[in-house]
Formats: sequence, C-alpha cells, structure tokens
Amino acid sequence: MSHGFETLAIHAGQDPEARTGAVIPPIYQTSTYAQDAVGAPREGYEYSRSGNPTRDALQECLAALEGGPVGLAFASGLAAEDALLRTVCKPGDHVVIPDDAYGGTYRLFAKVAERWGLAYTPAKVSDPDAVRAAIRPGTTRIVWVETPTNPLLGIADIAALAAVAHDAGALLVVDNTFASPYLQQPIAFGADVVVHSTTKYVGGHSDVVGGALVAADRALGEELRYHQNAMGAVNGPFDAWLTLRGIKTLGVRMDRHCDNAERIAAYLDGHAKVAQVLYPGLPSHPGHEVAAKQMRRFGGMISFRAAGGEEHAVEICNRARLFVLAESLGGVESLIEHPGRMTHASAAGSPLEVPGDLVRLSVGIETVDDLLADLEQALG
Ligand SMILES: Cc1ncc(COP(=O)(O)O)c(C=O)c1O
Repeated sequence: MSHGFETLAIHAGQDPEARTGAVIPPIYQTSTYAQDAVGAPREGYEYSRSGNPTRDALQECLAALEGGPVGLAFASGLAAEDALLRTVCKPGDHVVIPDDAYGGTYRLFAKVAERWGLAYTPAKVSDPDAVRAAIRPGTTRIVWVETPTNPLLGIADIAALAAVAHDAGALLVVDNTFASPYLQQPIAFGADVVVHSTTKYVGGHSDVVGGALVAADRALGEELRYHQNAMGAVNGPFDAWLTLRGIKTLGVRMDRHCDNAERIAAYLDGHAKVAQVLYPGLPSHPGHEVAAKQMRRFGGMISFRAAGGEEHAVEICNRARLFVLAESLGGVESLIEHPGRMTHASAAGSPLEVPGDLVRLSVGIETVDDLLADLEQALG
C-alpha cells in the first residue's frame, strides 16, 4: 500500500523495534556485532561501516521519500558527492556541472576530481541547449544540476535535462538540497541519482552534518552501496538518529518555510534598498513556470542584490540580528550570509563566482513579522 509523504516521513524504515517495541529506532552506537558462528553474522550485521540498523532506518526513509529503491547516508553532502563521482566516473571521463552551484561542490570538481583526470564543463542549468552543447559525446558520464541553484536560485527543467543526459548516454544527477523531497522529487522527472546535504532541510535543526544519495535504479544503487562501504565516509548512528528525528517534521517545516519566504520575497521585491530579488516563487523569476511544474512550492531560500552594491550587502549581513549571520541553511532558525565572502569564496575567480552585492537568506520558521522587522532595520 502506498502512503502519503508525511506518513512515509514518520514511518518508513521506522517500525517499532522487534525486541522491546521501542517506537523510535534505537541509536545502535556500536562498531561491531557478535556473530553466532564464523561467517554467520546476525541479519547481515558484521561491522558498522558496512551496516548499522540506525543508518539503515534513515536510508530506508530517504529512499521512500525520494521514490527510489536505494538510499544511502554519508558523513556529509560532499562525502556523498565524492562517493557518487568515484563510483560512476573514471579518469578520462567528463561531467557537465552547473554554472551556479554550492561552492564546495565546485571545489570538489575543480580542485579534487580534476586532478584525478575527471574533466568538467560548467553550463547554465536553466538552458537545456547550453547543457546539450557542453556534453562531450562518448565521454560525458554525468550531467549534474542543482535546482534551485545555490545561491542564485536558478531553476533547471529536470525532465528536459533528463532527456538531454540520456540522449548522450549520461546520468542526470540532481542535488535536491534546496527543495527537499517534500517540495520536489527529481526521480519522478527522470533523474538517475538524487544528492542531498541532509545537513540542511532534511535534518532541519542545524545540529548535524550529513549527506545522502538516492538512486533510481537498483543496480546503480547497489554499486553505490558497495562504494559507500569501500570508501567509508558513512553517516554515524547518532547523526543518522538526529537526521531521522528531523525528517519526521519535514513536511510541516517546509510549508512554514515557504509561507515565510513568500511573505519576505514579496516585501523585498520593489524595496528601494533592493536591486533584485531572486526567488522562484515570484512570477517575474525566469524559472517560475518550470519551478511550478516540478515543485510543490518554492522553498525557503531567497537571494537578493543590495541596491548599494557589495559594501551595502556586507552591511546588511552585519546589521541583521534575528537573522543569524552564518553559513549553512535549511534549519528552523533564519540565517543570512554574504555568499561571495562566505559559502562561495572557493568559487572566486572561476566561472561560478557570485556577484559581490548578493545576500542570501535561509528563511526560518519564526514569526514572520519579526523577520520582516529585522530585515527592515538591516537594509538601512
Ligand atoms: C546545495 C548543496 N549541496 C551540497 C552541499 C554540501 O553538503 P555538506 O556541507 O553537508 O557537505 C551544500 C552545503 O552547503 C549545499 O548547499
């Protein structure tokens, strides 16, 4: 029987524990497991890098929420990305990457994977023709997109890009961190692998770092699982437990994030101190229609360009009080940051460099009038 999203978030992979009936999956804080005889581990558990029941609960839940057969939880979003790249690609291969992406993702391609022989080409993910033109027939193994992108909130048409990637024999990988599976399920639109920094909305409380992969195809999922163990950057049991605790409320949190973000985007749009608002929920956003087609709502992330340029953007960040000046996103508390000098500093001087006048907001679930008042004083 199929269940709705909120039911899956609370129950998938989380049956009461067999021995005691514990309603919440226990934290199996163990590195190893007693075996009944040589070569006879109980229920397949032999060592916690290879398998751990708390991590399994999280993995099953993530797979259910994204609608894929295999979910895998890693130590961080970047650990998940690294495992994916080294499972699918080999030296001499090529990937198409977004021309707007999380700075750490860009750094992984530009400073780490390229040294191991993986070539990359940045392309505008909102333009399927540009992505097609960036493909190198025969060597492109992955078309990698974020949607919405971090930090410019660009929108990629997942179904169109799945067709572009598959025509070239490549996989479409979608980083779904900004949307979360509540707002967008890329596999339903043809993506082959979904990537998450579960540090963000999935965990939702800024108290744990983690990452995830969900594969659309079981064979690829099992290859990824093999590499998860062989490479070892697994999510620990306590981190998995915290992430699962957060997931249970993902749907209600996302709805409030969206409510608050919609109010704030409307307030910023047309404000004298703001040159441009980047939020896919605004009808003026170039990706609005595509976003409406593939997202339930438009999310809690807003970027805007300060009318007074880079120094003004920095001042706004420094003046904010309720919006905490901090990297990361997706927690219940609102955060503000200057991407050019903070999260995206690693993209400086590259095709992914972000404008200096850009401010990024992760809109939390506080009382929205308090958030609006803080922005009003911060804008100066
Ligand atoms: C869109 C996106 N993908 C991936 C990552 C990397 O995840 P982590 O910081 O958990 O390694 C981040 C982190 O900010 C991100 O924003």
